[in-house]
Amino acid sequence: MTRAQLIDGKVIALELRKKIREETAALIKQHDVKPGLAVVLVGEDPASSVYVRNKGIATKKAGMESFTHQLPADTSERDLLQLVAQLNQDASVHGILVQLPLPKQIDTDKVLQAIDPDKDVDGFHPINAGRLMTGQPGHVPCTPKGCVMLAKSVLPDLTGLEAVVVGRSNIVGKPVAQLLLNENCTVTIAHSRTKDLASVIQRADLLIAAVGLPEFIRGDWIKPGACIIDVGINRIDLEDSKTRLVGDVAFNEAVAVAGSITPVPGGVGPMTIAMLLVNTLDAAKRQIR
Ligand code: GUN
Repeated sequence: MTRAQLIDGKVIALELRKKIREETAALIKQHDVKPGLAVVLVGEDPASSVYVRNKGIATKKAGMESFTHQLPADTSERDLLQLVAQLNQDASVHGILVQLPLPKQIDTDKVLQAIDPDKDVDGFHPINAGRLMTGQPGHVPCTPKGCVMLAKSVLPDLTGLEAVVVGRSNIVGKPVAQLLLNENCTVTIAHSRTKDLASVIQRADLLIAAVGLPEFIRGDWIKPGACIIDVGINRIDLEDSKTRLVGDVAFNEAVAVAGSITPVPGGVGPMTIAMLLVNTLDAAKRQIR
């Protein structure tokens, strides 16, 4: 039985991070500007804490300045907005990322809209979403950018492909659909309420799975030879209180049908941090006057 080609996000992300490190060194040498990324974490959600720590480590490894702001879980919206305003004004901070989700006393949209769009390295500000939709330069969300780079590592030209995106979040589904449209794909956005999802997915030459449901997409839904980018990171419980990470696609089934597929972990995950560094470097370059 043939097996799909594995798309190794760890290797591709490491290569990209090496390039970023070199470009960062060049920026420091030529312009005396050290890119700075501020990451704000409110509360102590364990998964968010790990992400934030990893972002800080990766930033420093790239030769950039890392500023981490850890605030207590009961931080008021006013105090968080005040910190964002201060970071907007700080010339040593080129990128600002407020880790989501935020505690319920804080209006997430209000906070995201308070970030200077030019420092919005997450690309979540409505101005950046609008720029992406209308083809103007701006910051593009990291995970969608990573998905497209992984797809292009096996399919350099995506023109004319049937792309199906499963999931419609502002963080992944909607922006990745827009990026694939820019790559000349015919794009369908499906979701958990799509009627006969299996037959929609069956059309996909390129499938982006971002529904957040463990092994939801089964092998017999997949078009033979398709490229599968699995954004899902779902922790499932096993016996003996052990856990395992699985994607949104049933990997063991899909690998026998697809042409290429990302593993979970080690696929999309490592690309997100690499793209955050790309966006931070880009922000620093654009802020040079
Ligand atoms: N939480 C989960 N993914 C993300 C992300 O890409 N950016 C931020 N800020 N928070 C997240």
